[in-house]
Amino acid sequence: RTRVTAVKGRCLNLLTNGPFCFRRVNRDCLIIITQQSRFVNTFFHFFENIFSGCFFLIIKPDCVLGLATGDTPIGMYNELVAKYEAGEIDFSAVRSINLDEYYPISPDNDQSYRYFMNKHLFDRVNIDKANTRVPDGTAENVREFCSAYEAHLDALGGTDVQVLGIGRNGHIGFNEPADEFTAGTYKVKLTDSTIEANKIYFDHEEDVPRYAITMGVESIINAKEIILIAEGKAKAQAIHDMIKGEISPSCPASILQKHDNVHIFIDKDAASLL
Ligand code: PGA
Repeated sequence: RTRVTAVKGRCLNLLTNGPFCFRRVNRDCLIIITQQSRFVNTFFHFFENIFSGCFFLIIKPDCVLGLATGDTPIGMYNELVAKYEAGEIDFSAVRSINLDEYYPISPDNDQSYRYFMNKHLFDRVNIDKANTRVPDGTAENVREFCSAYEAHLDALGGTDVQVLGIGRNGHIGFNEPADEFTAGTYKVKLTDSTIEANKIYFDHEEDVPRYAITMGVESIINAKEIILIAEGKAKAQAIHDMIKGEISPSCPASILQKHDNVHIFIDKDAASLL
Protein backbone atom coordinates (compact mmCIF):
# COMPACT_ATOMS: atom_id res chain seq x y z
CA ARG A 1 0.00 0.00 0.00
CA THR A 2 1.12 3.50 -0.74
CA ARG A 3 2.67 5.27 2.22
CA VAL A 4 0.47 8.08 3.46
CA THR A 5 1.78 10.47 6.04
CA ALA A 6 -1.00 12.99 6.32
CA VAL A 7 -4.62 12.48 5.57
CA LYS A 8 -7.84 14.22 6.35
CA GLY A 9 -9.63 12.19 9.00
CA ARG A 10 -12.75 11.86 6.97
CA CYS A 11 -10.83 10.54 4.02
CA LEU A 12 -9.45 7.65 5.99
CA ASN A 13 -12.33 5.40 5.06
CA LEU A 14 -11.39 5.73 1.48
CA LEU A 15 -7.98 4.34 2.23
CA THR A 16 -9.53 1.02 3.03
CA ASN A 17 -12.56 1.14 0.78
CA GLY A 18 -11.59 2.85 -2.38
CA PRO A 19 -8.88 2.83 -4.98
CA PHE A 20 -7.44 6.19 -3.94
CA CYS A 21 -5.25 7.37 -1.13
CA PHE A 22 -4.88 10.93 0.04
CA ARG A 23 -2.21 13.31 1.08
CA ARG A 24 -2.51 16.90 2.11
CA VAL A 25 0.19 19.10 0.61
CA ASN A 26 -0.66 22.21 2.57
CA ARG A 27 -3.70 23.90 4.03
CA ASP A 28 -5.23 24.52 0.66
CA CYS A 29 -4.24 21.62 -1.48
CA LEU A 30 -5.00 17.96 -1.24
CA ILE A 31 -3.49 15.35 -3.47
CA ILE A 32 -5.16 12.08 -4.13
CA ILE A 33 -3.15 9.30 -5.59
CA THR A 34 -4.07 5.86 -6.73
CA GLN A 35 -2.63 3.19 -4.49
CA GLN A 36 -0.69 1.58 -7.25
CA SER A 37 1.20 4.71 -8.21
CA ARG A 38 4.67 3.64 -9.16
CA PHE A 39 6.15 7.06 -8.62
CA VAL A 40 4.64 8.01 -5.35
CA ASN A 41 7.79 8.85 -3.45
CA THR A 42 9.37 10.70 -6.29
CA PHE A 43 6.07 12.35 -6.74
CA PHE A 44 5.96 13.80 -3.24
CA HIS A 45 9.49 14.96 -3.59
CA PHE A 46 8.85 16.72 -6.83
CA PHE A 47 5.20 17.50 -6.49
CA GLU A 48 5.56 21.17 -7.19
CA ASN A 49 7.43 20.51 -10.36
CA ILE A 50 5.06 17.82 -11.42
CA PHE A 51 2.13 20.06 -10.75
CA SER A 52 3.50 22.51 -13.21
CA GLY A 53 4.44 19.77 -15.62
CA CYS A 54 8.12 20.63 -15.23
CA PHE A 55 9.11 17.24 -13.98
CA PHE A 56 8.23 15.70 -17.30
CA LEU A 57 10.02 18.36 -19.25
CA ILE A 58 13.16 17.81 -17.25
CA ILE A 59 13.29 14.03 -17.32
CA LYS A 60 11.90 13.71 -20.84
CA PRO A 61 12.46 16.86 -22.90
CA ASP A 62 10.63 15.33 -25.87
CA CYS A 63 7.64 14.28 -23.81
CA VAL A 64 4.11 14.22 -25.16
CA LEU A 65 1.90 16.52 -23.12
CA GLY A 66 -1.85 16.01 -23.20
CA LEU A 67 -3.20 19.49 -22.52
CA ALA A 68 -6.46 20.93 -21.28
CA THR A 69 -8.14 24.33 -21.44
CA GLY A 70 -10.46 26.08 -19.01
CA ASP A 71 -9.94 28.42 -16.09
CA THR A 72 -8.36 25.79 -13.87
CA PRO A 73 -5.08 25.11 -15.73
CA ILE A 74 -4.25 28.78 -16.41
CA GLY A 75 -2.16 29.00 -13.23
CA MET A 76 -0.25 25.91 -14.27
CA TYR A 77 0.49 27.40 -17.70
CA ASN A 78 1.67 30.63 -16.06
CA GLU A 79 3.97 28.56 -13.89
CA LEU A 80 5.37 26.74 -16.90
CA VAL A 81 6.01 30.03 -18.68
CA ALA A 82 7.78 31.42 -15.60
CA LYS A 83 10.04 28.35 -15.47
CA TYR A 84 10.71 28.66 -19.18
CA GLU A 85 11.59 32.35 -18.81
CA ALA A 86 13.91 31.46 -15.93
CA GLY A 87 15.71 29.06 -18.29
CA GLU A 88 14.70 26.00 -16.28
CA ILE A 89 12.75 24.23 -18.97
CA ASP A 90 12.83 23.99 -22.73
CA PHE A 91 9.90 23.20 -24.99
CA SER A 92 11.81 22.85 -28.24
CA ALA A 93 11.34 19.07 -28.41
CA VAL A 94 7.95 18.84 -26.68
CA ARG A 95 4.95 17.49 -28.55
CA SER A 96 1.47 18.34 -27.34
CA ILE A 97 -2.03 17.25 -28.09
CA ASN A 98 -5.14 18.89 -26.68
CA LEU A 99 -8.24 17.20 -25.43
CA ASP A 100 -10.92 19.08 -27.23
CA GLU A 101 -12.26 22.04 -29.20
CA TYR A 102 -15.66 23.54 -29.78
CA TYR A 103 -17.37 22.75 -33.06
CA PRO A 104 -17.83 24.65 -35.17
CA ILE A 105 -15.40 27.43 -34.30
CA SER A 106 -12.57 29.20 -36.06
CA PRO A 107 -9.08 29.03 -34.50
CA ASP A 108 -9.05 32.87 -34.64
CA ASN A 109 -12.15 33.11 -32.48
CA ASP A 110 -10.95 34.25 -29.07
CA GLN A 111 -13.15 31.59 -27.46
CA SER A 112 -11.58 28.74 -29.40
CA TYR A 113 -9.30 26.40 -27.53
CA ARG A 114 -6.59 26.86 -30.14
CA TYR A 115 -6.66 30.58 -29.35
CA PHE A 116 -6.56 29.77 -25.62
CA MET A 117 -3.52 27.52 -25.98
CA ASN A 118 -1.63 30.04 -28.10
CA LYS A 119 -2.41 32.81 -25.64
CA HIS A 120 -1.68 30.97 -22.39
CA LEU A 121 1.20 28.76 -23.44
CA PHE A 122 2.32 28.25 -27.03
CA ASP A 123 3.02 31.91 -27.89
CA ARG A 124 4.95 32.35 -24.64
CA VAL A 125 7.43 29.47 -24.85
CA ASN A 126 9.70 27.97 -27.50
CA ILE A 127 7.40 25.13 -28.50
CA ASP A 128 7.28 24.47 -32.23
CA LYS A 129 3.62 25.05 -33.12
CA ALA A 130 3.93 22.34 -35.76
CA ASN A 131 4.33 19.97 -32.82
CA THR A 132 1.09 21.10 -31.17
CA ARG A 133 -2.35 19.72 -31.98
CA VAL A 134 -5.76 21.04 -31.03
CA PRO A 135 -8.83 19.59 -32.75
CA ASP A 136 -9.84 21.62 -35.80
CA GLY A 137 -13.13 23.37 -35.14
CA THR A 138 -13.45 24.08 -38.87
CA ALA A 139 -12.96 20.49 -40.09
CA GLU A 140 -15.39 19.79 -42.94
CA ASN A 141 -15.33 16.05 -42.69
CA VAL A 142 -15.47 15.61 -38.94
CA ARG A 143 -15.42 11.83 -39.02
CA GLU A 144 -12.27 11.78 -41.10
CA PHE A 145 -10.72 14.47 -38.95
CA CYS A 146 -11.42 12.47 -35.79
CA SER A 147 -9.78 9.32 -37.20
CA ALA A 148 -6.74 11.35 -38.23
CA TYR A 149 -6.52 12.90 -34.75
CA GLU A 150 -6.65 9.48 -33.16
CA ALA A 151 -4.01 8.19 -35.60
CA HIS A 152 -1.80 11.12 -34.66
CA LEU A 153 -2.21 10.31 -30.96
CA ASP A 154 -1.20 6.72 -31.71
CA ALA A 155 1.78 7.88 -33.75
CA LEU A 156 2.93 9.92 -30.78
CA GLY A 157 2.78 6.77 -28.68
CA GLY A 158 0.03 8.25 -26.48
CA THR A 159 0.53 11.01 -23.95
CA ASP A 160 3.18 10.82 -21.22
CA VAL A 161 1.11 13.02 -18.99
CA GLN A 162 -2.45 14.11 -19.52
CA VAL A 163 -3.67 17.25 -17.75
CA LEU A 164 -7.38 17.28 -16.98
CA GLY A 165 -9.91 19.65 -15.50
CA ILE A 166 -13.34 18.34 -14.58
CA GLY A 167 -16.77 19.68 -15.47
CA ARG A 168 -19.45 20.34 -12.86
CA ASN A 169 -21.23 17.35 -14.34
CA GLY A 170 -18.13 15.14 -14.10
CA HIS A 171 -17.08 15.52 -17.71
CA ILE A 172 -13.45 15.11 -18.75
CA GLY A 173 -12.53 16.67 -22.04
CA PHE A 174 -16.02 17.14 -23.47
CA ASN A 175 -17.09 13.62 -22.59
CA GLU A 176 -20.45 14.42 -21.14
CA PRO A 177 -22.45 12.07 -18.86
CA ALA A 178 -23.79 9.33 -21.10
CA ASP A 179 -24.92 5.72 -21.19
CA GLU A 180 -21.54 4.38 -22.26
CA PHE A 181 -17.92 5.37 -21.93
CA THR A 182 -16.64 6.72 -25.21
CA ALA A 183 -13.64 5.40 -27.10
CA GLY A 184 -11.65 7.48 -29.60
CA THR A 185 -11.96 11.10 -30.75
CA TYR A 186 -15.48 12.06 -31.84
CA LYS A 187 -17.97 14.90 -32.22
CA VAL A 188 -20.23 15.39 -29.21
CA LYS A 189 -23.33 17.45 -28.49
CA LEU A 190 -22.76 19.58 -25.42
CA THR A 191 -25.15 19.27 -22.49
CA ASP A 192 -27.19 22.16 -21.15
CA SER A 193 -25.02 22.12 -17.99
CA THR A 194 -21.86 22.67 -20.02
CA ILE A 195 -23.43 25.35 -22.18
CA GLU A 196 -24.63 27.07 -19.01
CA ALA A 197 -21.14 26.87 -17.43
CA ASN A 198 -19.41 28.17 -20.55
CA LYS A 199 -21.81 30.95 -21.57
CA ILE A 200 -20.00 33.47 -19.38
CA TYR A 201 -17.16 33.45 -21.92
CA PHE A 202 -19.43 34.43 -24.82
CA ASP A 203 -21.41 37.62 -25.46
CA HIS A 204 -24.66 35.69 -25.73
CA GLU A 205 -25.66 32.21 -24.72
CA GLU A 206 -26.67 31.46 -28.31
CA ASP A 207 -23.05 32.07 -29.35
CA VAL A 208 -21.84 29.04 -27.37
CA PRO A 209 -21.19 26.28 -29.93
CA ARG A 210 -23.53 23.35 -29.39
CA TYR A 211 -20.97 20.72 -30.35
CA ALA A 212 -17.35 19.88 -29.69
CA ILE A 213 -14.69 17.52 -30.94
CA THR A 214 -13.16 15.63 -28.05
CA MET A 215 -10.83 12.77 -27.30
CA GLY A 216 -12.91 9.91 -25.99
CA VAL A 217 -12.58 8.56 -22.47
CA GLU A 218 -10.53 5.60 -23.67
CA SER A 219 -8.02 7.83 -25.45
CA ILE A 220 -7.71 9.91 -22.30
CA ILE A 221 -7.05 7.05 -19.93
CA ASN A 222 -4.44 5.58 -22.20
CA ALA A 223 -2.18 8.34 -20.86
CA LYS A 224 0.76 7.00 -18.89
CA GLU A 225 0.14 9.49 -16.10
CA ILE A 226 -2.83 11.75 -15.40
CA ILE A 227 -3.00 15.01 -13.45
CA LEU A 228 -6.51 16.26 -12.67
CA ILE A 229 -6.94 19.65 -11.08
CA ALA A 230 -10.09 21.20 -9.68
CA GLU A 231 -10.99 24.18 -7.56
CA GLY A 232 -14.12 25.51 -5.97
CA LYS A 233 -17.42 24.33 -4.53
CA ALA A 234 -18.98 24.02 -7.98
CA LYS A 235 -16.75 21.01 -8.56
CA ALA A 236 -17.35 19.33 -5.18
CA GLN A 237 -20.12 17.00 -6.33
CA ALA A 238 -18.21 15.94 -9.43
CA ILE A 239 -15.09 15.27 -7.33
CA HIS A 240 -17.15 13.28 -4.88
CA ASP A 241 -18.75 11.18 -7.63
CA MET A 242 -15.42 10.66 -9.37
CA ILE A 243 -13.77 9.31 -6.22
CA LYS A 244 -16.53 7.77 -4.16
CA GLY A 245 -19.12 6.95 -6.76
CA GLU A 246 -19.38 3.89 -8.93
CA ILE A 247 -17.37 3.73 -12.10
CA SER A 248 -20.11 4.86 -14.43
CA PRO A 249 -20.41 6.85 -17.65
CA SER A 250 -22.94 9.03 -15.81
CA CYS A 251 -19.79 10.54 -14.23
CA PRO A 252 -17.17 10.18 -16.99
CA ALA A 253 -14.33 11.14 -14.61
CA SER A 254 -15.08 8.07 -12.47
CA ILE A 255 -13.15 6.04 -15.06
CA LEU A 256 -9.99 7.42 -13.44
CA GLN A 257 -10.53 4.93 -10.61
CA LYS A 258 -9.27 2.33 -13.05
CA HIS A 259 -6.05 4.15 -13.89
CA ASP A 260 -3.08 3.30 -11.73
CA ASN A 261 -1.21 6.55 -11.97
CA VAL A 262 -3.49 9.50 -11.31
CA HIS A 263 -2.72 12.62 -9.30
CA ILE A 264 -5.65 14.76 -8.32
CA PHE A 265 -4.97 18.25 -7.01
CA ILE A 266 -7.97 19.87 -5.39
CA ASP A 267 -8.57 22.71 -3.02
CA LYS A 268 -10.62 22.55 0.15
CA ASP A 269 -13.82 23.63 -1.53
CA ALA A 270 -13.60 21.01 -4.24
CA ALA A 271 -12.84 18.43 -1.53
CA SER A 272 -15.71 19.55 0.67
CA LEU A 273 -18.01 16.59 -0.04
CA LEU A 274 -15.38 13.90 0.41
P1 PGA B 1 -12.87 24.98 -15.91
O1 PGA B 1 -13.35 23.80 -16.88
O2 PGA B 1 -11.43 24.73 -15.62
O3 PGA B 1 -13.09 26.23 -16.71
O4 PGA B 1 -13.73 24.90 -14.70
C1 PGA B 1 -12.97 22.50 -16.61
C2 PGA B 1 -13.75 21.55 -17.49
O5 PGA B 1 -14.91 21.83 -17.81
O6 PGA B 1 -13.19 20.50 -17.86
